Amino acid sequence: MTWIKTPKDWELPNQEITPEDIYLRRREFLSTTLKFSAAALMSMQPFPSPLQAAEINPPEKVEYTPESIASRFNNFYEFGVEKDQLWKSARKLQTENWTIEVGGLVKKPKTLEVDSLIHRFPEEERVYRLRCVEAWSVVIPWLGFPLRLLIDQLEPLPSARYVKFTTFLLPNIALPQKNRFWEPWPYTEGLTLEEARHDLTFMATGIYGHPLPGQHGAPIRLVVPWKYGFKSIKSIVGIDFTDKMPETFYTSLSPLEYDFSANVNPAIPYARWHQAFERIPGKEETEETLLYNGYAEQVASMYP
Ligand code: MTE
Repeated sequence: MTWIKTPKDWELPNQEITPEDIYLRRREFLSTTLKFSAAALMSMQPFPSPLQAAEINPPEKVEYTPESIASRFNNFYEFGVEKDQLWKSARKLQTENWTIEVGGLVKKPKTLEVDSLIHRFPEEERVYRLRCVEAWSVVIPWLGFPLRLLIDQLEPLPSARYVKFTTFLLPNIALPQKNRFWEPWPYTEGLTLEEARHDLTFMATGIYGHPLPGQHGAPIRLVVPWKYGFKSIKSIVGIDFTDKMPETFYTSLSPLEYDFSANVNPAIPYARWHQAFERIPGKEETEETLLYNGYAEQVASMYP
């Protein structure tokens, strides 16, 4: 079922969608790989640095991004750090009969079957900017439903303040997960309950008009467009309501580099590079990064 809706104030014009083939070639302009040990994290560099690039090429308007790039250049560390190879290894993920365990401060803990969840709410398309902490950005059309609709049905208790999300733990197919000494697998993320209930916060089950492929976080992932991309956790198997701010994969891995809120903010540099500009896949020019990734009008009131 597709829900035909009237445009909202945050909607991007269609020409700003990153064409899939451009999105796929992200590796051509960004050679950053993320390693999980502290030592490897210290060596992480964007290429070229956003600041250097901005000096060479002044920021320009974001352009339409094609799909062929989006599906061949991903961040999904469960399947390694080779951005252009992940799509192959992510195919090993069996997504049939996928379930999500709901627990914590909720009226009734339960197991959600994603196949039926997908049909529980009207399907929406959301065209969002995605800004990675590695200083690149794309514009992607997602399919899915607002997380708020699900939360309302799950009935968190009045004491619930946060929502924690968990990705699968399958070290036999997600080989980097064998390294549990250095890396706090499984990947986890979190939002305040207010953020989770925000109209922009989206549970994606599809992309570019079809179901999510493995590398994009099949069968269901979060998309939080005003936060750095690492908050948009993929292949979710757990949703827990808590009264305390949950530790996440990144905050426990490197607390000085990553904070829980991770709102896109050009004025706050990442530990090892500026965040004032972003590279656009397939383009030489950079763009200025916008506060809350351009969604300030919708979300700024949550952060007085
Ligand atoms: N979710 C999980 N489970 N594992 C990951 O490594 N990477 C994050 C996010 N979600 C990641 C994840 C990062 S850093 C980014 S930028 C986005 O996914 C990238 O999403 P995409 O590959 O669909 O563009």
